[in-house]
Amino acid sequence: EKAEIGLIGLAVMGSNLALNIAEKGNKIAVFNRTPQVTDEFYANAGALKDKIIPCKTIEEFVEAIRPPRPIIIMIKAGEPVDQQMAALQPHLDKGDIMIDAGNANFRDTMARFDRLKDTGLTFIGMGVSGGEEGARHGPSIMVGGTEDSYKRVEKVLTSIAAKYNDDPCVAWLGNDGAGHFVKTIHNGIEYADMQMIAEIYGILRDGLGKSAAEISGIFGDWNKGRLNSYLIEITEKVLAAKDPATGSAMPDVILDKAGQKGTGKWSAIEAQNMGIPATAIEAAVAARSLSALKSQREAAEKIFGTPDYKFPIAFGPDLLKDLELALFAAKIGAYAQGFAVMAEASKEFNWSLPMPVIAKIWRAGCIIRSQFLDEITSAFTKAPDAANLIVTPAFGEMVKESIPSLRRIVSAATASGLPVPALASALTYFDAYRQARGTANLIQAQRDFFGAHGFDRIDGKDIHHGPWGSGANG
Ligand code: 6PG
Repeated sequence: EKAEIGLIGLAVMGSNLALNIAEKGNKIAVFNRTPQVTDEFYANAGALKDKIIPCKTIEEFVEAIRPPRPIIIMIKAGEPVDQQMAALQPHLDKGDIMIDAGNANFRDTMARFDRLKDTGLTFIGMGVSGGEEGARHGPSIMVGGTEDSYKRVEKVLTSIAAKYNDDPCVAWLGNDGAGHFVKTIHNGIEYADMQMIAEIYGILRDGLGKSAAEISGIFGDWNKGRLNSYLIEITEKVLAAKDPATGSAMPDVILDKAGQKGTGKWSAIEAQNMGIPATAIEAAVAARSLSALKSQREAAEKIFGTPDYKFPIAFGPDLLKDLELALFAAKIGAYAQGFAVMAEASKEFNWSLPMPVIAKIWRAGCIIRSQFLDEITSAFTKAPDAANLIVTPAFGEMVKESIPSLRRIVSAATASGLPVPALASALTYFDAYRQARGTANLIQAQRDFFGAHGFDRIDGKDIHHGPWGSGANG
């Protein structure tokens, strides 16, 4: 019996995905560049062995899969993927499907898709979220490619995807780069969620003097309410963990320099490319970059001194409620931005991205999974063409309820010198978005003054330049 699917790359994510596929009853052929890795993988596969065909050569691997052959490539993003594709291509037949399941830049995915177009082979760019655990027991899967090629893999992917109630968290989202684009925005939102949580943590730690254990308890309580989500849940857990070496709370012994591999940055770049404001996501990416400037921050603190950071609002149930609602309001802003970026990309790249479906397949399996995404699913199902999440009836009400808390918290944090860039960005995004008469009239006047760039008038009169007088360049 031939394998239903093949997988190349048996590092952690690849082997977990392969085991998940086998466990759900699908026969799978596997291949790794270093054959010992394949041996070890197979030796440790236990009861799943009879669903796995370990292969030592590409020829043997390709031969083991039922045509048209879907082949998942799960290796380091970038150059290695192109090398692997080139090595595989001569062995494949018309209709075979190469599937890149890594965190690829969707622009690379589009180029790879185009490159294969006239060869009779097809390409799927597949975003997989949920980390190692997700890959093993149920990730959220975002697929881009031709609809036909998706049909060939739909059954296997549906069997391995996370389930929300009974709904599998997998969907075909559009042609070529659609899946990897949506995964990128997922990660951009992930960055914003994480940064906003970290800012609230900073208020509690530095502004209110709370210990990691106390803050853990607070996040634990919030996880029972409207903030219920995987990221809040793990925040409770990481704050409760103890360092075996010192007995301190784990986060207290970890250096405050955040890593990043690119997906957050790509979200911000693509938002800027399309002219869609995604300020909370941008702030979260910049905050990671700023965190990496550790020695500059240390030097600057010596020059400017350490503020006492004393939060001007007393700790107690009212403040806790306010912090919770503030985080909730800011979260709405970040998701509204992420979905607005996807809506624009959908037009720009001809994808017809289905907003309710995206929210739906993010409800389980992925890193940003939450109860909140179920509410987004229903808001976009009722109003699929809403210009922005915050103007849907359901979210409009939530925003009205929670923005005053965000305003109080951001005001108090900035008054005490606590940096809250993502929370503040979400707040000012809201303030600017709902302001019918803004201040860009002045920008237009300045542009016309120095460069004769022209403006439109509020009365519609056909006059597009000012009488600026001396010094004007018009
Ligand atoms: C996921 C995660 C996953 C990975 C991030 C981390 O959805 O499962 O997003 O893809 O952990 O890419 O990204 P950084 O290293 O940039 O934080």
